[in-house]
Amino acid sequence: MTKRVQSEKEYASLLQVIPGGVNSPVRAFKGLAITPIVVDHAFQDTLVDIDGAQYVDYCLSWGALIHGHAHPHILESVQKRIQKGTSYGCTTEIEGRLARKIISLMPSCEKVRFVSSGTEATMSAVRLARGFTGKSLMIKFTGGYHGHADHFLVQAGSGVIGLNQSATSAGIPQELLHWTACLPYNDIEAFDHFISNEKNAQNLACVIIEPIAANMGLVPADKKFLEHLRKRTKELNALLIFDEVVTGFRVAKGGAQSYYGVQPDLTCLGKIIGGGFPAAAFGGKQEIMDHLAPLGSVYQAGTLSGNPVAMEAGYQALCLLETPHFYEDLEEKTTSLTEPLVECINKHGVNACLQRVGSAFTLFFGRRSVTNMQEAKLCNLAQFTAFFIHLFERGIYIPPSQHEVWTVSSVHSKKNLEKTRDACLEYLKTCL
Ligand SMILES: Cc1ncc(COP(=O)(O)O)c(C=O)c1O
Repeated sequence: MTKRVQSEKEYASLLQVIPGGVNSPVRAFKGLAITPIVVDHAFQDTLVDIDGAQYVDYCLSWGALIHGHAHPHILESVQKRIQKGTSYGCTTEIEGRLARKIISLMPSCEKVRFVSSGTEATMSAVRLARGFTGKSLMIKFTGGYHGHADHFLVQAGSGVIGLNQSATSAGIPQELLHWTACLPYNDIEAFDHFISNEKNAQNLACVIIEPIAANMGLVPADKKFLEHLRKRTKELNALLIFDEVVTGFRVAKGGAQSYYGVQPDLTCLGKIIGGGFPAAAFGGKQEIMDHLAPLGSVYQAGTLSGNPVAMEAGYQALCLLETPHFYEDLEEKTTSLTEPLVECINKHGVNACLQRVGSAFTLFFGRRSVTNMQEAKLCNLAQFTAFFIHLFERGIYIPPSQHEVWTVSSVHSKKNLEKTRDACLEYLKTCL
């Protein structure tokens, strides 16, 4: 590995003042035993570190940058907007414009409320679901990540279906988890078994799910599983919440809900809708959304919610999605990278698999398919680490974990996609 003198020096200095040297744990490259990337600047599909090394970027701010880095149209609009002031703590016209854009692209959202992070969106959506239904129990699925609010940080106890789960973080009182149930992903039987208990069925306020899981690597839900959740939640007067923080506007213009043709009651959005700035949202049917304060009794607020600069960037990012053939072109770019890898895996029987929806995918090592967290945990992490370093040394940056998702932007160049394809093929051939 070439020495990254400035990066190493700066990271050592960051470690003195910021826990782990990072403001979000996965940025620390834990388990990879190399100094994390310390970015100086970025353009289009490329990150440049403080040593001046360039990396083709497939992390793209964890999926936020569907138009790549520093898109000139978004930058220009933001620069104009900034001249008018950066935050007012008052309502603005640009919030309405972005809300109408989301509503037009995602018809299950009749109204939306803006917040500043995906965590706030999921946390507020669940509070709203509980306030609207007057019930408390929330079901989530193992391997589903919905931000870092207390009641989401739960894993199921070794295959036991029920409320006997434990927190995946210290600092969460066990009592708080009483109303969180964690069930296996893609498992209709386990779901039905759980709600066959009368108390569970009666108490159920909501089911929250990533319709295409992106936090155990990319694992799509079975359409039948989502349809089943839709039907059962309706019967139980509980709300179905789709966490589309990653999939929203990524896997299709209308998100995973249009990809599957399943409409949730509430949707959580983030990443792409901020155009590279901190913005997120939750939205849904008007009769539910109007339970939020000031109209209703469910409280939710934020000093920087609907920040005009973030709204402008988000609005421009969503407008760009309507460029003719946007998703077809993105699909084609992604295919040019993934198809040769899939062919290589199949032709040579490599013990790996590539799971993809649209421009998001994961290359799993040590598994021929992954349908849930139990299987995702069986991946070959040593092989992933070697693969990550192989790419990093060749100027390619993928998310630094086996259980994350690569994304392709509309500005990834043919040359960089080919360079990535070749580097991946080179590695896959060492796995034979
Ligand atoms: C599906 C999903 N939901 C929620 C979140 C939380 O979003 P944020 O990191 O903006 O709080 C994430 C973050 O990656 C996510 O992947």
